Amino acid sequence: MKTKPIIKKLKFIPNLKNYSSTYKNFDYKKIIKEMTVFPGGKMNLAHTACDQNAMGYRKNKVALYWEGEEGQEMKYTFLEMSQLSNRLGNALKSMEVKKGDRVFLFLPRVPELFVSFLGITKIGAIAGTLFSAFGPQALEDRLQNSGAKVVVTTRELYSRVLKIKKNLPELKKIILIDDWNRVNFMEERKLTKKKAPKDCVWFYELLEKNKQYLRVAQMKPTDPAFMLYTSGTTGKPKGVIHHHQAIVHEMKSAEFVLDIKEDDVYWCTADPGWVTGIAYEILGTWALGASMLVYAGRFSPAKWYDLIQEYRVTVWYTAPTAVRMLAASGASLAKKYNLKSLRHLASVGEPLNPEAVMWGIKAFKLPFHDNYWQTETGGMVIANYPSMKIKPGSMGKPLPGIVAEVVNDKGKSVKPNVEGALVLKPGWPSMMSKIWRRPNKYKKYFEHGWYITGDRAYKDSEGYFWFVGRDDDVIKTAGERVGPFEVESALVSHPKIIEAGVIGKPDPMRGEIIKAFVTLKKGVRPSEALKEQIQQYVKKFLAGHAYPKEIEFMDNLPKTRSGKIMRRMLKAKELGLDMGDTSTLEVF
Ligand code: PRX
Repeated sequence: MKTKPIIKKLKFIPNLKNYSSTYKNFDYKKIIKEMTVFPGGKMNLAHTACDQNAMGYRKNKVALYWEGEEGQEMKYTFLEMSQLSNRLGNALKSMEVKKGDRVFLFLPRVPELFVSFLGITKIGAIAGTLFSAFGPQALEDRLQNSGAKVVVTTRELYSRVLKIKKNLPELKKIILIDDWNRVNFMEERKLTKKKAPKDCVWFYELLEKNKQYLRVAQMKPTDPAFMLYTSGTTGKPKGVIHHHQAIVHEMKSAEFVLDIKEDDVYWCTADPGWVTGIAYEILGTWALGASMLVYAGRFSPAKWYDLIQEYRVTVWYTAPTAVRMLAASGASLAKKYNLKSLRHLASVGEPLNPEAVMWGIKAFKLPFHDNYWQTETGGMVIANYPSMKIKPGSMGKPLPGIVAEVVNDKGKSVKPNVEGALVLKPGWPSMMSKIWRRPNKYKKYFEHGWYITGDRAYKDSEGYFWFVGRDDDVIKTAGERVGPFEVESALVSHPKIIEAGVIGKPDPMRGEIIKAFVTLKKGVRPSEALKEQIQQYVKKFLAGHAYPKEIEFMDNLPKTRSGKIMRRMLKAKELGLDMGDTSTLEVF
């Protein structure tokens, strides 16, 4: 669908008034200098995100409005967040957690996740987040590779960690969230004491024992601060490391793209198990002093509208699949709620189709603003801005401080409207600083002086970027990045499967769904029941979102002469396309 550009009449003064002149004159060096507030050019992103607010006039301002799955409600001011995280930081220190040690959070969206992230980074340790839907294998891959010393989790999720604990020699302690003490602790009531399992300590007992004063570790801007595992085409997930100065870009992008102002009530629907939840729930947006809403429950259009109405959300950051699901529930549902507080909408994670942009106008009288980035970029790199016209379907233009280009395979810029590889000029503040324990993987991201995104795109004559697709086999399903290799490995560990090839199949709602082609062991009869059994197996083993929604049994899979399964062929078969060059093909 081609739609006309949207020229907006804004009801607010945008933070970024003039894109072109800001882009031209922008200089990160100066901003980093301003944000390195400790002597010797040092900083700490938890200080920037939280403590600087807690120390100033925003100390009693609500930093976090939290609503739990069962409707529980909590509020935390910046001062409370700062003190709670100081206590956790002190607790970690008493467990001998040192600068550079990894502490992982295997948590649903509970308030303690935010407290812990700040506490870990305040003492200079590296905070890692893990999506709460991860099964034992996904957990083991990440905790083993990172060498995490401490894991913070809940009583419910603890059993999954227990299953793999024997394979994690570097793991020393598990902190368990005793959520029954959440309110007790905040209201200074006596804690309910229960015996913790072996090697575990209760979160709130730790907070009780430790002081609320902490000297924040003063870090070099390029010291590591947090890490996230993300998937590529091959191999196990990669541990992407981000440094303290990532917050500089996250703050400026939240200012320019999300248009965050300190009196906003901002809602980002992402889970901090993914980078969006870290960069734009904990870091960039808090650094600007806005109040943030976190909802721990499941997606439901009515509930989401109810939350916007109840908390008077002003800026809303979500994902295309969610927008499409809301659209499917009808604009009339949205109209039943008072959503007038909304002033700006943004979306990320997968292509935002023009219909979804336009649906925002229909339901909320506001368009969704698409923006593009990756776990590795640590923050938005291409975006639509409130002050700029939107071309529905386009990702927008590069952020101030970011040089983006579309190039050919020699790294040379291509002409407008010609498709090529989407690349960025290395060196922006939130660019990943390494891949944990895999330096060669890191090097592969750079070629001809560019950072290679792995995406294909074209740029039009006005400088707007348009997404074309991935350059590799990485799957994006409902905005979540899934590596085919991880799913294939899980599939072939099933006792009835010999081989598996996994692709992303286009889907109107979720962008893509995971489709698996499998061959079965001799004598195993293909059946619908077996498909379901395999799906359940992958779900439990890997993660709730990473199981193949579709499974097709095959007698053989297409392979190269060297035995590599050709996903490209499987995709072509699925889409009914020309198979391309089949000269190296072994069987089909
Ligand atoms: O393929 C691009 C797609 O998501 C990938 C990054 O995935 P992940 O690291 O999980 O991202 C987390 C932060 C957003 C990209 O390489 N992608 C992201 N945003 C867009 C997108 N594809 C199209 N349009 C977007 N706006």
